[in-house]
Amino acid sequence: MIDKKGRKINYLRVSLTDRCNLRCVYCMPEEGIIKKTHDDIFRFQDILKVIKAASVLGVNKVRFTGGEPLIVKGIDKLIYETSKIQGINDISLSTNGILLSDTVQELKKAGLNRVNISLDTLDREKYKEITRGGDLNKVMDAIDKCLTLGVKPVKINAVLMKGFNDDEIESFINLTKDSPIHVRFIELMPIGEGVKFFNDSFMSSKEVIKRYPQLIPVEREEFSTAELYKLQGGIGKVGFINPLSCKFCSECNRIRLTSEGGIKPCLHSEQEYNIKKYVNNEALLIKELENIMYNKPLEHHLGEGKLSGSKKMMFQIGG
Ligand code: GTP
Ligand code: 5AD
Ligand code: SF4
Repeated sequence: MIDKKGRKINYLRVSLTDRCNLRCVYCMPEEGIIKKTHDDIFRFQDILKVIKAASVLGVNKVRFTGGEPLIVKGIDKLIYETSKIQGINDISLSTNGILLSDTVQELKKAGLNRVNISLDTLDREKYKEITRGGDLNKVMDAIDKCLTLGVKPVKINAVLMKGFNDDEIESFINLTKDSPIHVRFIELMPIGEGVKFFNDSFMSSKEVIKRYPQLIPVEREEFSTAELYKLQGGIGKVGFINPLSCKFCSECNRIRLTSEGGIKPCLHSEQEYNIKKYVNNEALLIKELENIMYNKPLEHHLGEGKLSGSKKMMFQIGG
């Protein structure tokens, strides 16, 4: 469907939980979060109703996120049921990769097409530090497993942080030389815990790109959040997701479903619409969704001295 600003909305991101098995310092508070009651969580059967309604309105792309979606039991069944919905032809997952190696084969069988893995460092000790205890080996094993099984491309999302991983940019770029790995550097956003790190750690991807003349620009994919480059002869791509230095709102094609049954039409807007109450009336659900999609906010105002307008944090939205 086309919104009132002429943008084609065809992508639904579904957050399955705000819990996570890691505690990345710029994302999750150290103490974790308050566990939700069963009643607060949007059930699979309702999620599927929303995906179906969205598909009627032209959504063909669904991404499952979290928190960490792989800690949710039965995600394989959810993927399978999603793959059967008419019109849905791209099912992907955004994960930290810790549990992926053991599950990706089943998920692929269920209908998963692609995965995006959050990975901010290639150094074992630094990984432990940034994730507060995570094991890098598990993530690296998962990447290998995805490539072996042909779940590709594997997209790696690394949040750029001055003084933390700016010395590893080249190592990340080199991952794209011989494998179908797309490395995407993300600008740190002033949202949630990220606010505390923003002033000291923010690096503009524009500055970073200038330092690597070996990167050859390639055409931006339709609706891609990332500005794309590649190495001469490289198999993978190098992307820069720069919501601050060059926002992509005018082409934004996405809406989000939270794990509580809210629709967020923009990552950085406070707007969130409860659609839980409409799930038992398909016609009404489609109508509500259509209305929300049509009125999607025009843009965010990050980087103009303003913080995210979202009341929810990144782990509650799923990026
Ligand atoms: P592809 O379909 O593979 O291109 O995925 P994607 O880039 O939509 O998904 P992914 O979950 O990998 O998103 C990468 C990161 O981009 C997220 O973790 C966010 O940090 C950021 N991002 C995603 N969507 C938005 C958005 O609408 N606005 C802003 N500002 N940032 C976003
Ligand atoms: N800025 C940019 N990216 C963030 N993420 C979490 N918090 C932030 C932030 N403040 C990213 C994670 C992951 C996805 C869920 O969101 O690294 O890729
Ligand atoms: Fe979990 Fe991702 Fe947040 Fe890290 S960035 S705590 S992996 S949701």
